[in-house]
Amino acid sequence: MCGIIGYSGPLEAKKILLEGLSQLEYRGYDSAGIAYFDTASDIRLIKRTGKVSVLKEACAQEKTTSHCGIGHTRWATHGGVTDANAHPHRAGKVTLIHNGIIENYHSLTKEFSLEGKLISQTDSEVAAHVLNHFYSGDPGTAIKSLLERVEGTYGFCIMFDDRPGEIYGVRKVSPLVAAYTRSGALIASDLTALIPYTRKYFVVPEGCIVKLTGYKISLFDTGFSPVTPEITEVNWNMDSAMKNGFPHFMLKEIHEQPEALKNTILPRMSKGLPDFTDDAVPDSLFTDCRSIHMAACGTAMHAGMAARALMEPLLRIPVSVSIASEFRYEDPLIDEHTLAVIISQSGETIDTLAALRLAKSYGAKTLAIVNVKGSTIARESDFVLYTHAGPEIAVASTKAYSVQLAALYMIACRMAFVREKFTRHQASSFLTGLLDAIPAMEAMIRRKEEEKNLVTHLIQHRDAFFMGRGLDYAFSLEGALKLKEISYIHAEAYAAGELKHGTIALIAPEVPVIAIATQEHVFSKMISNVREVKARGAFVILLTKEHAQVDPGLADIHIRIPDIDDRFTVFPIAVILQLIAYYASIGKNLDVDQPRNLAKSVTVE
Ligand code: G6P
Repeated sequence: MCGIIGYSGPLEAKKILLEGLSQLEYRGYDSAGIAYFDTASDIRLIKRTGKVSVLKEACAQEKTTSHCGIGHTRWATHGGVTDANAHPHRAGKVTLIHNGIIENYHSLTKEFSLEGKLISQTDSEVAAHVLNHFYSGDPGTAIKSLLERVEGTYGFCIMFDDRPGEIYGVRKVSPLVAAYTRSGALIASDLTALIPYTRKYFVVPEGCIVKLTGYKISLFDTGFSPVTPEITEVNWNMDSAMKNGFPHFMLKEIHEQPEALKNTILPRMSKGLPDFTDDAVPDSLFTDCRSIHMAACGTAMHAGMAARALMEPLLRIPVSVSIASEFRYEDPLIDEHTLAVIISQSGETIDTLAALRLAKSYGAKTLAIVNVKGSTIARESDFVLYTHAGPEIAVASTKAYSVQLAALYMIACRMAFVREKFTRHQASSFLTGLLDAIPAMEAMIRRKEEEKNLVTHLIQHRDAFFMGRGLDYAFSLEGALKLKEISYIHAEAYAAGELKHGTIALIAPEVPVIAIATQEHVFSKMISNVREVKARGAFVILLTKEHAQVDPGLADIHIRIPDIDDRFTVFPIAVILQLIAYYASIGKNLDVDQPRNLAKSVTVE
């Protein structure tokens, strides 16, 4: 959470910082600020509550040019949303921005007698004062002393009044990436801010200090010995981080799903079977385990839930899914015979990272499914399968969900094959079924007007219910999350058979119920449940396969997806559920891409 950008080089720093903050705004958007060295080498500081556009307006008055500065977009943790709490923070000769949480800021406030001196309520300002206390002209030594005193997580970018043109960066858990480019030196909390300038970058290693000047970047450890950065290359381009004519990133990302699926599946197919040779994932990982335990947050966790519903009956071994923030404080039943599958779009979610570390400490083998190359989870996991969705900018995840599922389905297929639960023919027809889901998704994207029309009823209600059985129940969890996130309609997902054990009390006339019925073996049971809610006056939006037999009048709105294998209906269904949420948000005139209180990458607990 919180977006960070720093620049030193020949170009106009203010412009680069403000553009970078726009790219990073999905990490937090309650306030934003920049600080830069002006022509007289004094540090100018401008910060505002509200979105980056408000800061941009404030900066339009600033006429001084600058070649070095830092910028921050905030997701509030300590202290409310005020100008004073916005970053950067200043203390004496120090100006800094921070992502993370300094857990011992109360004791530091006392120890360094900061009561009465602090302008903000933030832990970050305390860190600025502590750093200033230790600073006497040598940045490295002062930063080292700061790091010895702070507890918690951090990504800091720091400038010192008497070191114009220089930026120092250091991190623990919170991400920081840096690059030296033809346009100068850049540092950021994530890659999207660097893509306009370069595809080659390095992750700032924990325990190292990075120094940026206009003509070079240097990296050294806390003993001040130089460290060679490990350069990574990403194949994202500028187009992938722009709206490209779509009104919102979310709609663009919904449209990108078929392509993202192809990019994730096709390079991993060999002789009609999933093949992870190029990912260096050995079959022994799949044959040697006795159980699978997945851990993730949010949408990624829902991808795990859907994959679990498919994997356990197929593989005949225990497959469980944990919410990472719960898992990390449990004493989980995992050991060296467990395959821990860690799912994360960003690869930086702090609870998911902690779950990975815990699983490793129990001796489990870890396999990460991650979208961002070189991210912390990707680097720390024993094995990694990258999903190739390109950058996902909208806070509500769409294409990442589909590609995570595709990767998990491919794992399921390979595992079933090497564990002899699938013959070669069965494995190959499974993969064909997965590929058939792509045109089915495309068909639903083409028919998006259907969802546009159906939200008229939905948005007049405060509550909505999603229900399904088996895989359809797993899909409905994600449908409810999407609707909550961006339309603020209270939505609950229920296993349809469970509805009558409580939730049906909430079904009053006209209450919207989105019923998913794509699983043949429970279809008639599911239809009975739909009748039960219809009998109580619910407004039923029913999703079935093309040729499903449904009594006329059972549904108020009936959307049919192409007749594909039941195991893969999640892909076209996901498109429908995403579009329902999207149009509901538009219908309520809300901010689709940046819904209130949320952030894309949750790097604090
Ligand atoms: C946040 C995002 C969600 C995302 C979740 C997990 O809550 O808003 O869209 O699913 O974090 O993120 P990850 O990057 O680990 O997949």
